[in-house]
Amino acid sequence: MTLSARAVIDLDVVGDRISRHIYGHFAEHLGRCIYDGFWVGENSSIPNIRGIRTDIVDALRALDIPNLRWPGGCFADTYHWRDGIGPREQRPKIANTNWGDVVESNHFGTHEFMDLCDLLGTEAYVNGNVGSGTVQEMSEWVEYLTRDDDSPMARLRRENGRDEPWRVPFWGIGNEPWGCGGNLSPEFYAEEARRYATYCHDHGENRLTLIAAGANEDDFEWTRVLVKTLVESHAANLYDKHPYQAISFHYYTHTGSGINREDATTFTDEQFYDTMAYARDFERVVRGHVAVMDSYDPENRVSLVCDEWGTWWNAEKGTNPGFLFQQNTIRDALVAGIHFDIFHRYARRISMANIAQTVNVLQAMILTDGDKLVLTPTYHVFEMNKGHQDARALAAHVLDAPATTARGGELPLVSMSASTKEGAALISLTHLSTDDECEVRIDLRGCGARVTRARVLGADSATTYNDADVPDRVEPRPLTTAFEGGELVVTMPPHSFATVELALD
Ligand code: AHR
Repeated sequence: MTLSARAVIDLDVVGDRISRHIYGHFAEHLGRCIYDGFWVGENSSIPNIRGIRTDIVDALRALDIPNLRWPGGCFADTYHWRDGIGPREQRPKIANTNWGDVVESNHFGTHEFMDLCDLLGTEAYVNGNVGSGTVQEMSEWVEYLTRDDDSPMARLRRENGRDEPWRVPFWGIGNEPWGCGGNLSPEFYAEEARRYATYCHDHGENRLTLIAAGANEDDFEWTRVLVKTLVESHAANLYDKHPYQAISFHYYTHTGSGINREDATTFTDEQFYDTMAYARDFERVVRGHVAVMDSYDPENRVSLVCDEWGTWWNAEKGTNPGFLFQQNTIRDALVAGIHFDIFHRYARRISMANIAQTVNVLQAMILTDGDKLVLTPTYHVFEMNKGHQDARALAAHVLDAPATTARGGELPLVSMSASTKEGAALISLTHLSTDDECEVRIDLRGCGARVTRARVLGADSATTYNDADVPDRVEPRPLTTAFEGGELVVTMPPHSFATVELALD
């Protein structure tokens, strides 16, 4: 059966800029993300550049990733950066009590991370330690990385082989302080965040964007306390700028009774639709945080950052449950498609997002198996969508979408967003029906347009994934589109993601 949906895009109603940083990434010292992922060491038989896997660098460069968050996550609040500098063999080992209780060698530290960012051509987002660290420790880390004179930390960096300071724009002030980051109350954390921020300085040309650690999912009260404390302290102290510039929150998609309860590759249609309903509920959560921030900060001076998002399934059988290694199917790709549509719609307030995580952990772009590298369906969504980076959001509405029922409510089966830059437009479409194709007729208003490329990501089953044996089961393929009666007609196969690129007259 063929379902049908109608949609409208106003090609000349140009909205907010979609920050490229919405396409950000996250690499934690967790399982096989860093070690046996990004980092194989200089003596590995796997091709590498100064210890960093070459094939991963090449694959991620093709995504134009704008920023990379590190070293956690929960790990950030147990990490002491001085353990990770100097000659590798002399670095102290520590216990990674958050993730698998394994011994951390500290072989991948500050210099290795900055080298990785340089190789990727991406900006660094360093997450400081509030839970078990000190203000001095974070302040000195900023100085170590970014100062260019004869200060004690700049000198220490030079002793470790790096003359020039790096540019490090993004800094997280702790992580999940309501949980692994210290089990703090929002009131206490808000004061702490302000104190930490006070001692993190802009050295030389480097300008910091300090990100206070925010809410779990729809904990709007956490956001309210953070933004209120920030805005009021700013007004009282007449600072030139706010002590911190952004507030984060985390949102993981799962089904059943919580994270880590269901398998990544084996699921029923009901579980599939429940997952999609959970992903779409992200819009309610974003709307709530934005409403709270609007009420205290109507001038939009403080931005919202979702620095952990993605699916969270059971760890694959036979792997360490503390390593959070999961496969990645078409279902995960569609969760990504839905999230990006929502990020694009709220581009006014959302300045950054980071999928959790980039390699071998949770909703990964890349899975490694020895010297083999697998690009996941989610990787392809990031690649197909990269034209939205720094584009301007367009008014895009799905009308008369088919729907089903999931998690006790109505679940529309088509999601869409669009943007424009440099005389072109990009339309993203996510279609959720597991049984039926859907003909989407899009009324393109405002100017003439012709299709320059259309691609679709799909497979016979939503459970399909790529692995080392068959790495290309799920890949973007050309999609045929048509103009009929002035409307763009896109026929989406069941459970698929598509992008249509337009040249505008
Ligand atoms: O991404 C995995 C973990 O999930 C992060 O370390 C933590 O911040 C969150 O709970």
